[in-house]
Amino acid sequence: MINTRPIDQAADILSNAQTVVALTGAGISVESGIPPFRGKGGLWEKMDPMEVAHIDAFLENPERVWRLLIKDMKTVLDTARPNPGHTGLVDLEQMGRLQTIITQNVDGLHQAAGSSDVIEFHGNFAWQRCLDCDQTIRTDQVDLAKIPPQCGCGGILRPDCIFFGEMIPPEALVRSQQLAAACDVMLVIGTSAMVQPSASIPFIAKDNGADIIEVNPEPTPLSGRISNLQLMGRAANLVPQLAGGVRKRLNSH
Ligand code: APR
Repeated sequence: MINTRPIDQAADILSNAQTVVALTGAGISVESGIPPFRGKGGLWEKMDPMEVAHIDAFLENPERVWRLLIKDMKTVLDTARPNPGHTGLVDLEQMGRLQTIITQNVDGLHQAAGSSDVIEFHGNFAWQRCLDCDQTIRTDQVDLAKIPPQCGCGGILRPDCIFFGEMIPPEALVRSQQLAAACDVMLVIGTSAMVQPSASIPFIAKDNGADIIEVNPEPTPLSGRISNLQLMGRAANLVPQLAGGVRKRLNSH
């Protein structure tokens, strides 16, 4: 019997795959209470990213960026916990059907869920870095009584994440491109695929013969262009279903 539902086709492809890589974005953490950047209820609907998330804007007025963006980000990320979208990927990894996650998210929720190989393409908010002495401090150790918060040396602290206008850490970029070129399936989950260079990662995978499976409630620039399958819906709902379908197939082999 030919499986016609996209989620069944996706489970078929994954259960026969050798090397699977996932690229994730803000959408996978929406069910953990972290708003996305774009689309309905997105952060960039309320504020201009070039005014609050560009390195020039931060260096020009760190207090303003801390007040408008980073302080609230800390409040939200402090209480965020992994959701079934994150744990579904851990299940796929434990079945040997997912090797590495390339995430654009700075929330650390993949690692908190138990994923063992995560490339943090845009850094991690769990650390702050001093602009002067370059020392890193755990974000939960930073005293926000003073904005912008300062390092012991008196230097201003900034999140150890990638602002617009900054380079992606070379090791993360090169490793992601290599894995994309070598995988036979790429899961693209909860990203609008609008921001470079992460948005080019699925194209590298496609150019090297991989199947592209998207999980997103909305179409993206990849949909109908390079995606073989689109699972239209929320990650917290569809990723566990997908893992369940793969488990059923592996158990029936
Ligand atoms: N499950 C899956 N996908 C979802 C869900 C959900 N519950 N809710 C929303 N989405 C989708 C949206 O339809 C959208 O396509 O997630 C995507 C979120 O897109 P963005 O907010 O643009 O996030 P992302 O693609 O990760 O942004 C890339 O841009 O602002 C910068 O540095 C920031 O890492 C970020 C980068």
